[in-house]
This record gives sequence, structure tokens and C-alpha cells, in this order.
Amino acid sequence: MRYFISDLSKYVGERVELKGWVYNYRSSGKIKFLQLRDGTGICQCIFFKGECDENAFEIFKDITQETSVKVTGVVREEPRSPGGYELGAETLEIIAPSVDYPITPKEHGTDYLMNHRHLWIRSKRQHAILRVRSEIVSAIRSFFDGNGFTLTDAPIFTPSACEGTSTLFETQYFDEKAYLSQSGQLYMEATAAAFGKTYCFGPTFRAEKSKTRRHLIEFWMVEPEVAFNDLYDNMELAEQFVEYVVQRTITNRAEELKTLERDVSKLEVIKGPFPRIHYEEAAQMVKKENPDFIIGDDFGGTDETIISSKFDKPVFVHHYPTAVKAFYMKEEPSDPKYSLSVDMLATEGYGELIGGGQREENIEVLKKKIAEHGLNEEDFKWYLDVRRYGSFPHSGFGLGVERTVAWICGIPHIRETIPFPRLYGRNYP
Ligand code: 4AD
Ligand code: MG
Repeated sequence: MRYFISDLSKYVGERVELKGWVYNYRSSGKIKFLQLRDGTGICQCIFFKGECDENAFEIFKDITQETSVKVTGVVREEPRSPGGYELGAETLEIIAPSVDYPITPKEHGTDYLMNHRHLWIRSKRQHAILRVRSEIVSAIRSFFDGNGFTLTDAPIFTPSACEGTSTLFETQYFDEKAYLSQSGQLYMEATAAAFGKTYCFGPTFRAEKSKTRRHLIEFWMVEPEVAFNDLYDNMELAEQFVEYVVQRTITNRAEELKTLERDVSKLEVIKGPFPRIHYEEAAQMVKKENPDFIIGDDFGGTDETIISSKFDKPVFVHHYPTAVKAFYMKEEPSDPKYSLSVDMLATEGYGELIGGGQREENIEVLKKKIAEHGLNEEDFKWYLDVRRYGSFPHSGFGLGVERTVAWICGIPHIRETIPFPRLYGRNYP
């Protein structure tokens, strides 16, 4: 039978065998302490001379940080211990040594840690962040699965651009050119006509030649799309969704957020309704604090921080100028200068979490937009079919998983929010 540290509460008073890695260890005379890490938790194992196996003290001498070991002993309740339980250890066996483990309790530079990312993920803080990420992903799936959405994943190899041609990764698809997907949206528009409410969830790629705290080259995005939803229905969905993900995560990952010293009170208030402001109003706010901002432009990171700092909940900014948005955005019928687009900006300066809007459903307008954006109509033949056969108003959005993880964890940089980040200038390990 396998035993895991996270389950120790079930085995108080019983003899168990744990397998894992040495997280920490120390000796003081007749007693030796070993903090065992098995990925599900950390358990203090206490070896008392006279009470444990005779060999254990000898074997203990060969232990180093991250040696893999097997320990047997009896589970005891111990409130002062990391997980609330400890092991009155009996036997110790080394499974494999760990010589000169490169990550020690001393401070290491970020570049060094990023080069050792495959080992860095074993440390407490990184472990906590990735546990939060796993919960967020699970909450995302539960929300859509539980609300009648059908998962219809989009391809990674694509023949055309969704979010502009400047950040496309080009690759070879046998004899043809292909691109890595920037977004699954266009495919979700087609699946929405088949299933009504759909979503895709997977990695997306942007060849962004910039190093910022908020950009990855490869990031995960969840993209719901709903037939017959307008811009306002779309905001309502996004609001319910983000509330659900935040509230579930702070409940289920309270321990990890404590490890990260997250001020959870800032997340407890993330409940709908979220404020909604028109682009013009947001632009005026920005202009007051950043006189260089040109009204009509898209917001940069610092501009988003100016806007979001006015609210203690995420804020929707809607009706961005048509000129700064993608070809598929529907124009505001009463004023085509603006589009039926919406971004959700996170609190505490974390910037854009969500981008989306209502899509153009008129085939003639869409053809015109494709041409204006310098795209090739031939590549979008299938996409235009969605308008050719029973066109319908529809809306959707994309939420970036890593931005959400950074925000909920309260960490300054996106590079720690994914197990193996792809950044501009980094494709290793
Ligand atoms: O605003 P974006 O570019 O929107 C789309 O791709 C739409 N097609 C989505 C849709 O409507 N189905 O990206 C959506 C979100 C952003 O708000 C941000 O959270 C995240 O994806 N994102 C990134 N995250 C990390 N690194 C990057 N380089 C990102 N680019 C976008
Ligand atoms: Mg965007």
C-alpha cells in the first residue's frame, strides 16, 4: 500500500511507509530530524536513538538535501509540525543520493533559478504557486463544464492569423506554411454554431519580442464563445466566471496562499457586479495622470494600472476604438468609431486578464475588415461560412491563465506562474 503525506490524518497511531526527498535535516545528540517532502506535503520524521532501527543513525550520515529516501514509522498528531502530523521514525533507507544539489537555502539570482527551473519547482514557494495554478485550471473547467458549455478544443497549427500578423510564429506544415495558434477564437465561433455554448482551453503562442512582467511567448488561454450573446451578456458571463475562479481558489488553496503571504482580503471582495466603464471615460482617467497618453490609442501596462487602481474589483473597459482592435470585432452600430470590445483589468495593478467582445456577424462587413487588415480572404473562407449559413450575433472572450495565477498569488512576475516558462530569450529548460 502507498501512503502519502497529505493523507496522514487518516493513519494516526498506525505504522506507515513514506517515500520522498529530504527537504531538510538536522541532528542534536540522540535525536535526528528529517523533513520529508513527497510532493503532497512535508512531514517531520523524528529518529530517537534507542527507539529507531540501529542502522538509521548510520544511514542518516549519508543524507543530503534532496536525497530520495524511504522512511517507516508511526504517525503522531503534532500541531507544531508543518502539516500537523509527524512520524516517530523507525527505519531509514536511501533510494538514491543527491550530490551538491544546486539550489540551497541561500539566495540565488533569478537567471540561475530559471536555468534550474526543473529543480526550482521543488521549493516551497514555487510548489505553492503551481498548486494554485492547478486549482485555477480545475476551477476554470468546472465553471464551464457545470454551466452547459461543451469543450471543443482548437488546433495549434493554423493557416491564418487571429490576433494580427506581427506576433505570428511561422512554421512548416509539410509543403505549406502554417502558424502556431495565437487564439482559438475563430474556431470557437464555428463550434458555437454547433453547440451553442463552447470553450477551448490550451496553449497559445505570441512572438512578442519584449521582456515584461506580463508577457509569455507560450501561455494558456481559456476561450468561451456563446451564440446569441451580446457585449453585455458577455460581460455578465466574464464576471460570474472570474468570481467563481477566485472564490473557489482562495477556499481550496488557503494554505498555499498563506505560504505566499497573499493578502487574501483583497480577493475575498472579488464578487460581482464589477464596474463597467466606456473607453472614453477610461482614457480621460489615464490622461490626467499620464499626459503623454493619446486618446484613441490602446492602453499600455502603466495606463491599465492607472485605471484599475481606482477600483477594488476588476473593471470592465468596453468600446475600445475600432482602430486598435482585431478585424473580427463588431462596430458599435450607433458610432462605428468604437467597437463592441471589452477588456477586464485586474485589481492591484495586474493589468488585462480578459480580452473579448461581440463578433462581426455580417459577411460583407467582415470581408471588408479582412481586406483592411491586410489579411488574405482565401484563408478565411471557412470562417466566412459561419456567416454564410445562418449567421448569428455572438460573443466571447479569452482569459490568460498565467496572468490570473500571478494576480491570485500576488506575485510580481508571470515567469513563476507556469512550470516551464517560455520567455523572450528563454527556451530552456
Ligand atoms: O486580448 P487577447 O489577445 O484576446 C484574444 O486573443 C481573443 N481572441 C480572445 C477571445 O476573445 N477569444 O488575449 C486574451 C488574454 C489577455 O487578456 C491576457 O490575459 C492573455 O490572454 N494574454 C497573455 N498572457 C500572457 N502572455 C501574453 N503574451 C499574452 N497575451 C495575451
Ligand atoms: Mg487584449
